[in-house]
Amino acid sequence: MDLILTPSSPLLGKRVAEELGIRISSVTFKRFPDGELYARVESSESAHVVVCSLNSSEDFVLLNLLFDAIKGDVIAVIPYLGYARQDREFLKGEAVSVRVVAKAIEDRAEKVITVNIHSEKAKESFKKLVNVDAMPLIGENYRGKDLVMISPDKGSAERVKVAARFANCEWDWLEKRRIDEKTVEISPKSIDVEGKRVLIVDDIISTGGTVIEATKKLYELGAKSVECACVHAVLADFAPVKLFSSGIKDLVATDTVERIFSKISVSKILAEEIKEI
Ligand code: R5P
Repeated sequence: MDLILTPSSPLLGKRVAEELGIRISSVTFKRFPDGELYARVESSESAHVVVCSLNSSEDFVLLNLLFDAIKGDVIAVIPYLGYARQDREFLKGEAVSVRVVAKAIEDRAEKVITVNIHSEKAKESFKKLVNVDAMPLIGENYRGKDLVMISPDKGSAERVKVAARFANCEWDWLEKRRIDEKTVEISPKSIDVEGKRVLIVDDIISTGGTVIEATKKLYELGAKSVECACVHAVLADFAPVKLFSSGIKDLVATDTVERIFSKISVSKILAEEIKEI
């Protein structure tokens, strides 16, 4: 078995290969003058681990090209499973994007591994998916720190509860209402953050809208400082600029999406799952 690196997850892929003690395969990626992508895999191994976050539509095209190029079995490791937020037909006639992604991956891969998929609903589109939880790693990163963890909405509360258990700290949650893809409203809720160091924990930070609104509310409630941590640092739409301008003191993420903020690696928990096979 060898491991195929992709442009979206080169460092995490290398770390997983090191954890597993397997070779990195020789691959070539190219872009033609018209923008079309090309992939070539030179490997005669009978099984391959492909580590490829779906940060963009191009990553999905590349993953499919690899599926065609690879000759043996495939273990698809998709650390950040993009397109999972469109997990149902919200409006009549909409494509259920995650269903399309799941079909393409499961048609080719013997096993699929991801980290904190967006929702239980998204998981239902898969038959072979193992969903690994990075919240214990986020929790351990803050163990011994005097802070309170806050979930920006009730939906993430169970995740934050896990992180808080591993950090051995207090936790609570806020009320969120999404108005559109860029706008959220955080309602007042009586939580005790007066004079405290607060860490907002979420699965994804995309536009940053959720964290920014939660930050405003937490400062209004008397928080001494507000930081944030997430699994998937999607960080669309100049999110880091907006986050730090809103008074966020620090941003920590895992390496499912490789960013300068990716201080926690999920390589070990992914390798453990691959070893199970
Ligand atoms: C929502 O259900 C998720 O847990 C995140 O809160 C959301 O995806 C964050 O998006 P944004 O950063 O654009 O507010």
